[in-house]
Amino acid sequence: MSFSHKILAWYGEHQRDLPWRKTRDPYKVWLSEIMLQQTRVAQGMPYYHRFLEAFPTVRDLAAAPEEKVLKLWQGLGYYSRARNLHATAKMVVSDHDGKFPRTYEGLKSLKGVGDYTASAIASFCFDVPEPVVDGNVYRVLARYFGVDLPINSTEGIKYFKELAREVMDAPNIRDYNQGIMEFGAIQCAPKKPYCLLCPLNESCVALKEDKVAHLPVKLNK
Ligand code: ADE
Repeated sequence: MSFSHKILAWYGEHQRDLPWRKTRDPYKVWLSEIMLQQTRVAQGMPYYHRFLEAFPTVRDLAAAPEEKVLKLWQGLGYYSRARNLHATAKMVVSDHDGKFPRTYEGLKSLKGVGDYTASAIASFCFDVPEPVVDGNVYRVLARYFGVDLPINSTEGIKYFKELAREVMDAPNIRDYNQGIMEFGAIQCAPKKPYCLLCPLNESCVALKEDKVAHLPVKLNK
């Protein structure tokens, strides 16, 4: 079985039931991804629900007074995220008639939407075959394929993006992208991963070479 099929099989059995995985509404997916950038799932969940209750659509968010947005964000920290969120909502309404762009490049043109978030929205909502590369994905790829290039070097970033593209499963990009992140979050955890019980352990280079604890490599800059 290929790497991507193993990830999909694992995800089919082990995925958590998370609200933003049940929707293809780019507004909701965007909101969840911005909220989860520096926040754990368990902490972000109540905020996600409260936000959508207060602002069910991007038009509602755009029309809201800033202090109401910031008030709902209270406790999540990094308030620039909330201000960017609000500014982006206004931009979606004024420049895109309230509809999120459907392409990777279009999404990236939005304020606060970088490479990762654009790939996430494009693949989760519109089936665009763009690989997501977040911290979880770096860890899974570095270990499974035995890559010791630093994940925060120019060379490493480029290499991992290309590797991610080569090994992704384009026809199932939505589940595959969610799956590799989930696999990194739960199975291939940063500390003490359960390699003995891992369904990918037979072909994991890091495990074979006893490098699991040393990968991924990150430079102290
Ligand atoms: N963290 C960031 N994005 C996520 C997602 N889509 N599902 C679960 N955790 C996440």
